[in-house]
Amino acid sequence: MQEPAAPVGAVASAATGASRELLAEGAVVLRGFARLEAASLVAAVAKIAAISPFRQMTTPGGFRMSVAMTNCGAAGWITDRAGYRYERVDPATGRAWPPLPSRFRALAARAAAMAGFAVFVPDACLINRYEPDAKLSLHRDEDERDLSAPVVSVSLGLPATFLWGGLSRKDRVRRVRLEHGDVVVWGGPARLVYHGVAPLADGDHPQTGRTRINLTLRKSL
Ligand code: SIN
Ligand code: FE2
Repeated sequence: MQEPAAPVGAVASAATGASRELLAEGAVVLRGFARLEAASLVAAVAKIAAISPFRQMTTPGGFRMSVAMTNCGAAGWITDRAGYRYERVDPATGRAWPPLPSRFRALAARAAAMAGFAVFVPDACLINRYEPDAKLSLHRDEDERDLSAPVVSVSLGLPATFLWGGLSRKDRVRRVRLEHGDVVVWGGPARLVYHGVAPLADGDHPQTGRTRINLTLRKSL
């Protein structure tokens, strides 16, 4: 940590004006951390989706996910009947995923540093698009090769209820409201915490319409 971390509650940062809320050891919510650049992130997502479109993937068990996904970076996270994994080629286009914009990488590195992870160089960004009622069941991000790197998650558009559990699937789950521009970072002892997203409430956001967009930046390879 760059500043002493409070065990609970919010800590205001004089440098950015963003407040920092500890979820667990190794996990923080940075309120409004990406708000100023949110519109440019939304525009970048539209450009990425024009190359590698959003699609609803199928789980290994044969269920169609309610969240639509695409990726950018050296590898993209996918799921199909064969399993969960990272692929360098987008199966929908047969071509490489669009490159990771440098501003995504820079934002993720700054957020990770605020959370106490001094060096974070992501190579992949999973982009999730939630429409009303879309949800993400409790899961762990465990398909990355190097679990010493954190995950940085950026919320854009409609607010969502983030579900934050523990290292065991049976642990108590906290409900954390995430709004446009909020960033969550988890790593270290929290890297394999179960998390998810409750069904999205309908609404209309000036930058994203009736959707929520989430960027999760990872070191995948
Ligand atoms: C994820 O767990 O991959 C996404 C979390 C979110 O949409 O906030
Ligand atoms: Fe996740």
